[in-house]
Amino acid sequence: MRAAFVALLAVAAGGCQPSPPPPPSQPVPFSHKLHVGQNLIGCGVCHSYTARGPVAGIPTMARCNGCHRFVSADKPNVQKVNAAFEAGKPLEWNRVYVLPDHVYFTHERHIAAGLRCQQCHGPVEEMDVMHQVPPLSMGWCVTCHRQRGASTDCWTCHK
Ligand code: HEC
Ligand code: HEC
Ligand code: HEC
Ligand code: HEC
Ligand code: HEC
Repeated sequence: MRAAFVALLAVAAGGCQPSPPPPPSQPVPFSHKLHVGQNLIGCGVCHSYTARGPVAGIPTMARCNGCHRFVSADKPNVQKVNAAFEAGKPLEWNRVYVLPDHVYFTHERHIAAGLRCQQCHGPVEEMDVMHQVPPLSMGWCVTCHRQRGASTDCWTCHK
């Protein structure tokens, strides 16, 4: 494993930074702007694990249904959401942020260090369609780690 990383080091050092990929398609159009920006629903209502564990978590259908059995229950996209809940078949959201398997990341330490979601995910409350904002490159992680005195040891992020 370690040898493989060292061999790839030249690529990491010399590689150009690709721009973030276009957003994936989603089973139902979901708007953060509508929920967070306009209806002021906090991130934690839907992504409840961020402060506690490594995975921020994609919300459960029960969470959606808790509001949508009352709110806009006549709208076609909401009917799809409620039908998925009732059928016990969660909507399969496609991931927007994906790190390679060889990189270790956890939300817990970052949230505990006082970082806001938007510092890494951009102005989520303005997004009708969720999309990736930072490049998710090694340089992006390491630059912030350097600025904030966090570890830049290779094995912090590579297991
Ligand atoms: C230090 C940067 C950083 C901060 C701060 C941050 N995130 Fe993330 N987030 C990431 C990265 C990087 C990923 C991709 C993780 C992966 O692929 O393993 C991610 C992934 C996610 C995901 C996808 C599911 C998952 O758990 O991997 C959600 C949802 C998410 N973040 C929500 C949030 C919320 C809500 C906050 C604020 C409470 C937040 N993030 C704060 C960097 C950050
Ligand atoms: C805390 C309450 C709440 C939760 C939880 C919630 N929503 Fe909503 N949602 C709203 C409100 C309020 C609106 C705006 C309704 C309006 O303006 O008519 C909305 C609107 C929507 C719409 C647009 C409806 C239309 O006009 O076509 C969709 C789709 C939707 N939500 C999907 C979801 C999904 C999927 C989840 C779960 C991941 C979810 N919502 C969770 C409150 C919530
Ligand atoms: C009403 C529920 C709801 C609220 C509130 C909400 N989200 Fe989300 N979030 C979702 C759903 C559903 C998805 C998956 C669909 C998508 O990507 O649009 C998602 C996806 C994401 C993703 C992409 C995850 C990935 O890698 O696929 C990030 C990042 C994220 N949310 C951050 C936030 C932040 C930051 C806030 C608060 C500012 C927030 N969300 C508030 C429901 C919500
Ligand atoms: C905006 C700034 C910022 C960005 C971007 C960022 N981090 Fe961090 N990270 C921090 C801070 C600050 C800490 C230190 C938290 C502490 O001291 O407890 C930290 C801590 C960590 C830790 C825990 C370190 C330990 O000693 O256990 C890991 C793992 C980590 N980051 C991985 C990543 C990865 C991987 C990325 C990129 C995908 C990334 N971080 C992007 C600020 C950032
Ligand atoms: C703060 C987190 C962090 C630290 C510290 C870190 N890396 Fe990385 N590294 C990443 C991330 C994130 C990627 C994935 C980048 C991508 O896919 O574009 C990566 C990718 C790589 C790759 C693969 C390059 C490629 O093009 O696929 C190698 C090799 C690598 N790192 C080696 C190292 C070495 C050696 C060190 C120590 C000098 C180190 N990394 C320290 C986060 C980190």
